[in-house]
Amino acid sequence: MIRHYLQFKDLNREELDYLFERTRWIKEQFKSYKQYWPLTDRTLVMIFEKASTRTRLSFEAGMQQLGGSAIYLNTRDSQLGRGEPVEDAAQVISRMSDIVMIRTFEQEIIERFAANSRVPVINGLTNEYHPCQILADIYTFIEHRGPIQGKTVAWIGDSNNVCNTWLQAAEVLDFNVHVSTPPGYEVEPERAGLYGTAHYEEFSDPMEAARDADLVTTDVWTSMGFEAENEERMRDFADWQVDGDMMKIAAKDALFMHCLPAHRGEEVAAEVIDGPHSVVWDEAENRLHVQKALMEFLLLGKVS
Ligand code: CP
Ligand code: NVA
Repeated sequence: MIRHYLQFKDLNREELDYLFERTRWIKEQFKSYKQYWPLTDRTLVMIFEKASTRTRLSFEAGMQQLGGSAIYLNTRDSQLGRGEPVEDAAQVISRMSDIVMIRTFEQEIIERFAANSRVPVINGLTNEYHPCQILADIYTFIEHRGPIQGKTVAWIGDSNNVCNTWLQAAEVLDFNVHVSTPPGYEVEPERAGLYGTAHYEEFSDPMEAARDADLVTTDVWTSMGFEAENEERMRDFADWQVDGDMMKIAAKDALFMHCLPAHRGEEVAAEVIDGPHSVVWDEAENRLHVQKALMEFLLLGKVS
């Protein structure tokens, strides 16, 4: 049976433990310049309907480092932007490739693609979710602090795709998320794909959400696709900046993460993202290693 990775909970806890262990090994091979080519002759197609730096780079470099090749398609210069049904595109693309990564708008689009695909499909960000990002974030947490189970993550800002994915991850891996959003931007549990409310708590005061947290994280106030709301959001989110005072109220050894790209002076103060709690560069790098483990798992299953 084909396995897709469309949202975080598509992998269970035992599979995630395996994936993180594989990530560690694959990263070690890469760091010691050892060739590891399990995907020789395999082709990844990457479809981008929104901009990207990290996701494109990490998937393209990752596939090459595993011995395969990657093809980049975007909406502007393929038939995807000219109204070809997503079901037809899925039929054709999946007959010419071994695995597909898509960055698009509504989750429904990637689900329709996957339903018509002969090969595994990976979510490289939708309006609702960004599962590869949270794989990298949790792997980064584990590298720095050990298991995330039972820990508290503070999410400050918009209840967007990255927030929704943290909330799903908390259910799968049994940790807690303290969420603080401005009024009107609260979590929508159904849209987030949650089973319940046991693993998160909402706080009207962002400082209270950050209190004693093991990890403080945030994201842009305006996500891709929501640019028309930018001016209003700049006003509404003005008090939801992660700054030095907020990091002081978090646990003493709290980490700071941001999926990037970041806007210093908006959702995060420069003193935090460029300061001692920040692990944002490790977080970005780990996209590469964790996605290599993910592609290996979806194509070959468990190999160790
Ligand atoms: N964090 C992330 O997905 O970055 P890009 O938009 O650059 O891919
Ligand atoms: N929430 C952001 C994440 C970018 C990587 C967006 O969707 O634009």
